[in-house]
Formats: sequence, C-alpha cells, structure tokens
Amino acid sequence: MYRIIRPLLFLLPPETAHKLAFRALALMKYIPFATRILRMLFSYKSSSLPRQVMGIDFPNPVGLAAGLDKNAEVYNQLGALGFGFVEIGSVTLAPQEGNPKPRSFRLVKDKALINRMGINNYGVKQIVRNIQRDKPNVIIGGNISKNTLTPNDLAYKDFEKTFAQMYDYVDYFVINVSCPNVKDLSNLQTVDSLTAITRHLTEIRRYCDLYRPILLKVSPDLPTGTLDQVIELILLSGLDGIVACNSTVSREGLVTSGEKLEAIGEGGLSGAPLKEKVLSVIRYIHKKTDGNLPIIGVGGIMTPRDAKDMLDAGASLVQVYTGFIYEGPFFARKILKYIS
Ligand SMILES: Cc1cc2nc3c(=O)[nH]c(=O)nc-3n(C[C@H](O)[C@H](O)[C@H](O)COP(=O)(O)O)c2cc1C
Repeated sequence: MYRIIRPLLFLLPPETAHKLAFRALALMKYIPFATRILRMLFSYKSSSLPRQVMGIDFPNPVGLAAGLDKNAEVYNQLGALGFGFVEIGSVTLAPQEGNPKPRSFRLVKDKALINRMGINNYGVKQIVRNIQRDKPNVIIGGNISKNTLTPNDLAYKDFEKTFAQMYDYVDYFVINVSCPNVKDLSNLQTVDSLTAITRHLTEIRRYCDLYRPILLKVSPDLPTGTLDQVIELILLSGLDGIVACNSTVSREGLVTSGEKLEAIGEGGLSGAPLKEKVLSVIRYIHKKTDGNLPIIGVGGIMTPRDAKDMLDAGASLVQVYTGFIYEGPFFARKILKYIS
C-alpha cells in the first residue's frame, strides 16, 4: 500500500508530506477506536521482544528517533504503529522557528535525507501541555537541547530548566549536543562543556523521587580521541547511556550528483549512507565499555536486517527515522517480525 502512496507523498516537499501524514495521525485521536485499530493492524508482539534497559521495561527494542514528533503531538499513534518507544523533541526552553525553508531534502537514489531544520519546536511549556492533554501509553524519551540564540557557555541553564520542566512527563532524557544544523551546538561535545551540563542535570535528578535515565546523543563525525573522552565522561558523570548517532555532515560515497548536493547546501545527512559509520561507532563503544554502557543505535536502518546488525553490534535498543519515511507505517512491524 505504501508503495502506492509513497510516490504521491514524495511529489510534495518533505515538510509538506510530513505535515499531511501528521495531520492524518492526529485525526486518529478524535475517531473512536482508531488508535486501537492502528495498533491491531501495525503492532507486533512476541515473547522475545521485551527488553529491560536502564531500568525501563521496553515492550520491544525498536523506537522512533528524535525529530519526527518534535512537539509531542502524535506519540500514542506512533506507538500504535508498533514502536516500543518514541523520542520527542529536540525540545528547547523557548519556542523557536528553526532555519528558513526549504530545509529538508530527499536524496532518493541514496535512500537518504539532508535536513537543516535547526531544532524548530514549540518550546518546553507547550510540549509539556501537549503531554498532559494526551496520557502517554508508549514509553517517551525527552530529547532536549539549547536554544540557538543561547551562547554555549550558558547552554547548561537552558538544559537544566528544560530538564526540570519535563522531568515528570517523560521516561528518559537525551542530551542533544550533536545536531549539525544549529550554529556551534556540536562544539558542546567537549569535556568541559558537557561536564557543566551533566553536573547540573544529575544534581537536579538527585532531588527527584523517580529516577529518569539520562543519555547523551553523539555525532558520527567525532574524532576517536573526542569520542573516547565523551565515553569516559558518560561513565564518570553518572549518565546512563549513549545514543549513537545523529546525522552527519559528511557527503562521502553518495550517488546523488555534486550539482544537486551543492544546490541543497548545508545540513545533516541521514539514512542508508550512515549505516556503516554508525555500526563501527557502536562496535567501538560496546568494546570500549565491555558492553556495560547501554547504547541506543540510530542511523541508516533502512531494512529489518540493518536493525539486527545494529543490535548484534552491541546496541541495546535501536531507533529509526529516515527508514520510516522511505518504508512507511509497516516498517516497525517488519523489523520486529524479523528480529523476533
Ligand atoms: C528531518 C530530521 C530532523 C531531525 N531532528 C532531530 C532533532 O531535533 N534532534 C535530534 O537529536 N535528532 C534529530 N534528527 C536525527 C535523527 O534523530 C537520527 O539521529 C538521524 O536521522 C539518523 O537516523 P536515520 O538514519 O534513521 O534517519 C533529525 C533527523 C531528520 C531527518
């Protein structure tokens, strides 16, 4: 079915197609039993799928990556499509519009996307209101970042306020300092900057009744030396895991013509071309930490086999974004069937 719908959707600019699909999902909230019917059609259960990771019971290891349900609008409907967890955001303290449009592009020949959305979102207050309005029946990750206008030396303040305001409404947190589309954000992937952020967040958590795991999302473009430092910081600072990886600024090995890439311009590349790089990062982290650090593997999962490769490489859980856009609503179910 999606094979028929996709060419029509792909005639539209990516953001318009995204909005349409989201409207359709949001509509399900108002149609009696629609979400339940979605769940019956799309979800997949098997006794081999549930995982306990970081103290959370995941019904299955396949989640939806950050950036799709940025504003926490359709997480329950996405959960009904089979995903074991949905990561909302990235959420910032104040609302922000992101970069000027167009800012999202398909590279169909490469089964990839390039985006420079710039963390457009409604801001933490509205997003918390959205969650309060629609009780989650799926595990929710809260991916948080800083506002573009906040200078890096004050980033920790954005992070701590957003974290505190969302604390009661999500099951785990992800610190996003690896988005390549926000000026200077990825410069926060240094030990000094990260220490300030993680110290404030773990301090706030100490005073909370419930324990929410905190993970750090890294770029696939980090040099090995920096990745080593980041891993050490995660282990020493009391963080609970790592999300590997965000999109890449590399354009290596693409089939898409140089002219088209030039016309598109800057942005993070996601999808099939990321897979091998992400797999090697996951293997590296897994080995370096003796398998003791929970890893959420994300980047380039375009087939059920890719998801299994990532779990075999040492990921405890996996997430998809671009694969979902290319493969459609049955994608989670297909992966779950394959890995079970
Ligand atoms: C349009 C778009 C928007 C994204 N927005 C975010 C974001 O706000 N925060 C974040 O941490 N990652 C964001 N990502 C990155 C994805 O979560 C994921 O790490 C990346 O796309 C690699 O996975 P994939 O190859 O399955 O797409 C975005 C990706 C895309 C394509």
